[in-house]
Amino acid sequence: MIKVFVPTLAAMLTVSALAATKPAAQLQFDASQGVAGSVEMPNGTVNYTAFTHLYFVTNVEDSTYQYVNVFVPEGATQRSPIFLKTNVGGYMPSAPGFPSAGDATGMALQRGYVVAIPGSRGRSSYITKKGKRIYNGKAPAAILDLKAAIRYLRHFDKEMPGDAEKIITDGTSAGGAMSALMGATGNNPAYEKYLKAMGAASERDDVLASVCYCPITDLSHADMAYEWLFGNTDSRKADDEAHRQVSQELAAQFPAYINSLGLKKTDGTPLTADNYLDYIKQQLIRSAQIAKDAGADIPDSIGFTLSNGDGGTFAPINGGVGLPADMAKGMAGARGGKRVGEYVTGLDIEKFLNYVANQTPLKTVPAFDALGVAGDTASGENDEFGNSSNIPANFTSYSAAKNNTAVTDEVKEAEYLLNPMSQIGQSDVTVAPHWYIRHGSIDRDTAFPVAINLATKLENDGKDVNFLLAWNRPHSGDYALNELFDWLDKLAK
Ligand code: DHB
Repeated sequence: MIKVFVPTLAAMLTVSALAATKPAAQLQFDASQGVAGSVEMPNGTVNYTAFTHLYFVTNVEDSTYQYVNVFVPEGATQRSPIFLKTNVGGYMPSAPGFPSAGDATGMALQRGYVVAIPGSRGRSSYITKKGKRIYNGKAPAAILDLKAAIRYLRHFDKEMPGDAEKIITDGTSAGGAMSALMGATGNNPAYEKYLKAMGAASERDDVLASVCYCPITDLSHADMAYEWLFGNTDSRKADDEAHRQVSQELAAQFPAYINSLGLKKTDGTPLTADNYLDYIKQQLIRSAQIAKDAGADIPDSIGFTLSNGDGGTFAPINGGVGLPADMAKGMAGARGGKRVGEYVTGLDIEKFLNYVANQTPLKTVPAFDALGVAGDTASGENDEFGNSSNIPANFTSYSAAKNNTAVTDEVKEAEYLLNPMSQIGQSDVTVAPHWYIRHGSIDRDTAFPVAINLATKLENDGKDVNFLLAWNRPHSGDYALNELFDWLDKLAK
């Protein structure tokens, strides 16, 4: 019997009960097992057929997380793109979800995308063997599960509506990092032995596009970037001497890292430690100009300078979108003919960074790799790099040394498997051709360079990158969805 319902909790349980299957020796998909459901969007109901509890590995260790739910909207075909949303947050385990009007999945269905919402193990996951807890969700478990889900979708591509050659991944924060990884690590042989042991399908796992909101990524360089950017804020100046010393030591490591990346701006000139802060300023000015053009108020109290005139000249960023001159030509028409008469021309970056730090207090130094990892002094990231006995670990040589230890080979391997930066440009990796990367202009969960470096490295590698420090957005995701899906429709439909 087909049952129609809105996905209240009770209804979700009904779906689970109706469609639950057990892990099996072979991967399975039965197209006759779909269950009707719907999601209420602000402008109407979207009906779908749900396929739930699709285990994506044969050696299921954790039946709560290692499966994917797939939702096929009315009218979808074999050619429809697949929107794969990970709900990972905080590097924690993430249960396979249901579509929601509150995130991108509702609109994806409404626009005719097949939606896949895989679960994945996380840093607090464990199984119990002979009465002993074995933590099996530490890095790189989450990305392994997500890659297994992608392989599952490809394995049953012919049987299932939607085109597995048009998978678009989406996630926010640690989930943004996971989306970046799905985009940047396609078919990397380094994951193979793990995926094989899990019983993942023997398929490719590259994707078409990756949507990353505020990715908490490049963890081994996130501390230095954070102190380099925020180290001179009033907040840091109020720290005690020991913390200030650590902040300054970390900040001092950042220039060498930036220069080692060999990045180039869109105009082909080198992006180096010497011009990096200016580049961030340009990105923030561009963000403010786009917001201003859309009607936002840009207060000069937070550091921006506004002037009339031609807005001065500065180098194109990301294909030239968002230049003042472009604004006047291209976007004035889009606003119904109203002329853009005021340009954002300057930024007092110190003032702005203090403003950001006043919105949400900065993380204590070091922001990610704690100096001591015993007890509750460990960060979530230390926990993510912990071992199967749930002992957290340092993952940077700086913090490890302060903690009188060294980064182990196991942690180095896990850090590599969790870092998109080191894999972009690697010859045996298939990186997604299309990227949509957003980091809020008032987000301080990680520093701007983390997202900027990711976007720039991808762009330098020839990828199509739509990047923005999104105006006035804090640490958040799945926003400006009409804009996102207008962009996705063009490349995937
Ligand atoms: C998330 C936020 C953080 O600040 C962090 O360090 C890791 C993860 C999150 O929201 O997923």
